[in-house]
Amino acid sequence: MENLIKAETMSERLHNDGTTVGRNTLISLKGVSKNFRKNGKEITVVNDCSLEIAENEFLVIVGPTGSGKSTLLKLIAGFEAPTTGEIRVGGEIIKGPGADRGMIFQEYALLPWRNVLKNVELGLEFKGSRSEADNRAQAMKYIDMVGLSSAVNKHPVELSGGMKRRVSLAMILVTKPKILLMDGPFNALDSKTKMTLHAEITRIWEHEHNTIIFVTSDLDEAVKLGDRIAVMNQSGQISKIFHNGLPRPRTGKAALDTEFHNRFIKLREEVLNEVKAGAGKTVCEY
Ligand SMILES: Nc1ncnc2c1ncn2[C@@H]1O[C@H](COP(=O)(O)OP(=O)(O)O)[C@@H](O)[C@H]1O
Ligand SMILES: [Mg+2]
Repeated sequence: MENLIKAETMSERLHNDGTTVGRNTLISLKGVSKNFRKNGKEITVVNDCSLEIAENEFLVIVGPTGSGKSTLLKLIAGFEAPTTGEIRVGGEIIKGPGADRGMIFQEYALLPWRNVLKNVELGLEFKGSRSEADNRAQAMKYIDMVGLSSAVNKHPVELSGGMKRRVSLAMILVTKPKILLMDGPFNALDSKTKMTLHAEITRIWEHEHNTIIFVTSDLDEAVKLGDRIAVMNQSGQISKIFHNGLPRPRTGKAALDTEFHNRFIKLREEVLNEVKAGAGKTVCEY
């Protein structure tokens, strides 16, 4: 059991070329830092982060509030440029946002005057792609995938929070990004909706072979979803990366197995301790 849930130390991580999980590296961060000016002072929000993410990996990032998780995701998305260091996707240094990377924010922005179908088609309209019929077929495929077939004609005002999240997920998925960057996409949802969406995002990831970087403050969610869990600390560093050797599926009946359950709790505890250790004086919601 000890071997399966192995924490990666800083020195091991720096030598990690992605082969540790038996796959090719897709995203690499080398010495990435991001400074902002705050009240006339320069602050380092992301601090010398080096990390390699494998193709079709599900990487989860956790850490106390203000540890730079969202900024790190925006850097990978290309919405922000690093102050130092470099980020490569498929070997190429990224120069800005790209169709290969789709970002899903905590706050979803649906157009209230458009129904579900029309909102999802929007993703394709932005992309300026193909015929109307083709766009519709693609949109329907992803609406079905997120379990919203029965709500295609509904408008945002008629949808629950969970359904809105599904629409925004379908809006991004329909553009077929190789990389999904998800910043607290299921925050503030009730636990039943969350569980359903966990099963769905896992199924989509297995089916579409995306590479996912998923930020959360929910450690149950982190252990349920991640192949690895990276912990950021108050100084904007990645303090530790945990390999998550728990077998999949991790939901439903599998979660009732005693050995599975014990391993799950143990890993969650180890991650929690690492988050707490890196929280310093900052707010720690865990
Ligand atoms: N554009 C910005 N300008 C100035 N400070 C920023 C900016 N974006 C984020 N910050 C600061 O960077 C720190 C980390 O923010 P963030 O990446 O949102 O952390 P997290 O997502 O882990 O809560 C915070 O102190 C925040 O105020
Ligand atoms: Mg954030």
